[in-house]
Amino acid sequence: MTDIRRIEVTVNSRLYERQVETRMTLVDFLRHELDLTGTHVGCEHGACGACTVLVNGVSARACLMLAVQASGKIITTVEGLARPDGTLNELQQAFRDNHGLQCGFCTPGMLTTLTEFLAHNSNPTESGVREAISGNICRCTGYQAIVAAALQAARVRHEGKG
Ligand code: FES
Ligand code: FES
Repeated sequence: MTDIRRIEVTVNSRLYERQVETRMTLVDFLRHELDLTGTHVGCEHGACGACTVLVNGVSARACLMLAVQASGKIITTVEGLARPDGTLNELQQAFRDNHGLQCGFCTPGMLTTLTEFLAHNSNPTESGVREAISGNICRCTGYQAIVAAALQAARVRHEGKG
């Protein structure tokens, strides 16, 4: 028997009310119900980090979380990271400046993971950044450019130019 529940969830500052199957994952809810396809699906078992979103400001694997568990929570996806006027924020701009992406598959998860990390680490070390993204797999960049981008974003914020 299909079990349906009503949920209310705030995604990128917008409140959504939906009926969902209790077995639906959060990543499927975001992609298929809300058309927010910026969050990617890779391994679907918590290993790759491509599906990472922020739940009440804390990074979480959206493939390991059910949509019903997100009810009442505040979700931020990659679509919610840009500035209100639509321009890239300093982390996104730093990825662009440093060629921090190639195919872009890992990028939404990298950006959300680093958003949480930089919120708590205003002056990070290179090793700190590497540890922060150690749960996110990138098959293209070799990570060097991603680390450089994160350090640039931190510098820009620190100097108040962001
Ligand atoms: S798709 Fe969720 S961790 Fe890989
Ligand atoms: S840019 Fe291709 S997987 Fe990271």
